[in-house]
Amino acid sequence: MAKLKVGIVAGGKSSEHEISCISANGVLSAIDRDIYEPVLIGITKAGKWVLPPEDYKLTIDGKNLPTISEDLPQTTIDQLDVDLLFPVLHGPYGEDGTFQGQCEMAGIKYVGSGVLASATGMDKSFAKPIFEAHGLSVAPGMVIQQSDWLIDELRILADATKYGNPLFVKPARSGSSRGTSKVKKADELKKAINFAFEYDTKVMIESAIVGREIECAVIQVNGVALASPLGEIKILGNHEFYDFEAKYLDDSTELITPVKLPFGVTEAIQDAATTAFNALCCEGLARVDFFYTGSEIIINEINTMPGFTATSVFPKLWQAGGIGYTELITKLIEAAITRPLDVTR
Ligand SMILES: Nc1ncnc2c1ncn2[C@@H]1O[C@H](COP(=O)(O)OP(=O)(O)O)[C@@H](O)[C@H]1O
Ligand SMILES: [Mg+2]
Repeated sequence: MAKLKVGIVAGGKSSEHEISCISANGVLSAIDRDIYEPVLIGITKAGKWVLPPEDYKLTIDGKNLPTISEDLPQTTIDQLDVDLLFPVLHGPYGEDGTFQGQCEMAGIKYVGSGVLASATGMDKSFAKPIFEAHGLSVAPGMVIQQSDWLIDELRILADATKYGNPLFVKPARSGSSRGTSKVKKADELKKAINFAFEYDTKVMIESAIVGREIECAVIQVNGVALASPLGEIKILGNHEFYDFEAKYLDDSTELITPVKLPFGVTEAIQDAATTAFNALCCEGLARVDFFYTGSEIIINEINTMPGFTATSVFPKLWQAGGIGYTELITKLIEAAITRPLDVTR
């Protein structure tokens, strides 16, 4: 039987371009080649679709991150010879529904959430009220538009004091902690807001939650969302929070699984994870991130295309749940192949 041709899409236009390359490299090295024929497809930072050669380097080299070169032979979605796409893309133009919409338009099946779930999951200002409507707790906070910031800076700075101290300031649609700051002094707030606006035209200001960071990986098997064992992010060294360096560059984070929690809390977080997944009508996979304060479970965010290298949280949590990296990739492709293309489903 001919093998299913799976286009592994790497790079993308977002600030998470490099991380996507590393994730895609993981998928390329682990995909079951007895049943699938992977084809590497690149999207450059400028948004061009390209076909890198098979030996194209997608690994991290010291502190140098891989990228998709603008000089590779160009292609378009309509010219691809694949049965399905696996968009190992993070952030805007990958994880936010735009890529998914392009696939729907072109009639090509793809791994993961559809247009609406991807878009909503990407935008924290939309995901939070939906989570709340489904009974989940979120960090108190406010959303600011750049157009308002430009004319009403003083009012916004004054309003933000309602959310206490310290505050977190972050772009509504970023990822990998890019553009995110913890603000401990009132006079640093303006700078933090301007910094977040370098990444997005919409910014979230939130109370800083004091608690443990706990993550849960969700996959959908036969249409049912399943929660993995939980993992706790332990940050060692000099990081105020789970920032970009801590995530990818300096080995300062550790994932602890299983997580020791009071009786019933593990199940409650797993329940909250599948509730969040279903609330946004996600498909395929998502990683749902929480804070546990000792008394309260607060959902922080959902990632519809989480980091996906063999050592990323998502595959590690499923490893702990008895599903290895290669099998996980197979399950996601199987779910995608049976998913009808239809944005109105
Ligand atoms: N309200 C908050 N309280 C405490 N820590 C936060 C808060 N918001 C963000 N953080 C910290 O910043 C990190 C990145 O923020 P997050 O909302 O997860 O954005 P991203 O999509 O970039 O991962 C979190 O993992 C956490 O360490
Ligand atoms: Mg996060």
